[in-house]
Amino acid sequence: MHDITVRFGQVVANSAVEFHAGWSEIHGLVGENGAGKTTLMRVLYGMYTEYDGELCINGEKHSFSSPKDAIAQGIGMVHQHFSLVPSMTVAENVVIGKPPSKRGLINLDESIEIVKKLSKEYGLNINPKDKISDLTVGLQQRVEILKALYLGAEILIMDEPTAVLTPQEIKQLMKTLIDLKNKGKCIILITHKLAEVKMVTDKITVLRNGTIIGNVDTKDTDEKRITNMMVGREVVLDVEKESYNPGKVVLDVHNISCLDKIGLPAVKNISLQVHEGEVVGIAGVQGNGQHELADAISGLIPLLTGEIVLNGKKITGKNPSLVCRKNGMGHIHDDRVGVATASDMSIRDNFLATIYRTSKVKQGLILKYSKADDYVKKNIKKYKVKIGKITDSISSLSGGNMQKLIIAREMFLKPSLLIASQPTRGVDVGAQEFIYQQIIKHRDSKNAVLLISNELSEILALSDRILIIYKGEIIGELNRNEANEEKIGLLMAGIKEDDCNKEAIQ
Ligand SMILES: Nc1ncnc2c1ncn2[C@@H]1O[C@H](COP(=O)(O)OP(=O)(O)OP(=O)(O)O)[C@@H](O)[C@H]1O
Ligand SMILES: [Mg+2]
Repeated sequence: MHDITVRFGQVVANSAVEFHAGWSEIHGLVGENGAGKTTLMRVLYGMYTEYDGELCINGEKHSFSSPKDAIAQGIGMVHQHFSLVPSMTVAENVVIGKPPSKRGLINLDESIEIVKKLSKEYGLNINPKDKISDLTVGLQQRVEILKALYLGAEILIMDEPTAVLTPQEIKQLMKTLIDLKNKGKCIILITHKLAEVKMVTDKITVLRNGTIIGNVDTKDTDEKRITNMMVGREVVLDVEKESYNPGKVVLDVHNISCLDKIGLPAVKNISLQVHEGEVVGIAGVQGNGQHELADAISGLIPLLTGEIVLNGKKITGKNPSLVCRKNGMGHIHDDRVGVATASDMSIRDNFLATIYRTSKVKQGLILKYSKADDYVKKNIKKYKVKIGKITDSISSLSGGNMQKLIIAREMFLKPSLLIASQPTRGVDVGAQEFIYQQIIKHRDSKNAVLLISNELSEILALSDRILIIYKGEIIGELNRNEANEEKIGLLMAGIKEDDCNKEAIQ
């Protein structure tokens, strides 16, 4: 890609970018939120046609007018947010772009055979007859990769593929990427997890503010140097905090149970408390009920049993916006696009969504837009959210910037209980440092934080107490001082200390 410039109104998303990747190569594309990574790859995938510059594959110039043209030239892309049809099967989704037909209809038997053959060839196990909505995120992503391979992808773009995966799924994906590379393909990997970049890539290109900062061989660099290239300074993820001195109970959860979205038990008789001045971390492999636990506490899904008390008031079964928020609850939801934002609304209205009922922005029944706009702008600045205008659609924001806006909104009313579910998913290392500081500041101001995270390093950096969730139950509790990755890791796999002792005796 030569001299690529892309503009969205006033925003220059890519400015005279030079990007080169070769065959049999995994090429890392990194940079801060809003640096222009997704934009550059969308140009390559034929999604953006309004750009200056030149695009060459095998030395031949191309100009795509749609992804269809790009696919025809062997380019595939797995997006940050998947584009599968949930009600259809794996096989139907894989062949959807070019279905084998039989008398004018999709040949389902052949589709199933195609998927079986591809799965075998690339070692991507999956049942072709499963419905997408029943699959874990990791398996859904596998379907996306199969879909691209079925369409003949030789250049495969992966936009933050590991942000939503469990550590086991990440390992599996990395293996897949290396296999694909060994088969001669060119893989372009966008990610904020620098350990992954260091582990699997051969080359790295760094973007900052739409321009190329550098291009290095992975073997000649390290995480610290990549960070420095990305954000122009060192980043410290060890946050300073005041000594642990918990106050009274803010959240009291007693024996709650609930179901997941397909009606299976997700949370089983969980009791927990979070105090003032305390971060309680919930560690667990994704899919063990932590997502439903957060939704149940904030009233988004109904309880089968149990009771929830927030600041001394029973909130069980109450309306999340009227009751939970009013009593001091903020919730950074882990589903950024589906739940935490309204895609067809503006940046401003998304920020105001949890605030517009409060006296901060209302006078009588009237919403004071000028006052509201001041708050929106001030917070966008504070959280360094990169935007065009506040009236632009929220969907114009890059993934990480959307996440920062959600966090700014949820922190705005200084909730006495903050539920932070995967708070730094998809944000760059610089922003991660800032978010860690904000969460700790919130705790130091005597608030309660319930942190749910797939990242063990995040749990260890922020928590005062750590609860481990396994198959919907809390199977262990550790104080920060006694916790380490190994102990938590064993519990996350369902192995209790007693079990270890028993094994040792036998
Ligand atoms: N469709 C669009 N309309 C308007 N502005 C856009 C659009 N897409 C991207 N932008 C802007 O272009 C810039 C680059 O965005 P891009 O999505 O490429 O960033 P990114 O590097 O992928 O960031 P992240 O790590 O957060 O995903 C951002 O400032 C973003 O707000
Ligand atoms: Mg992006």
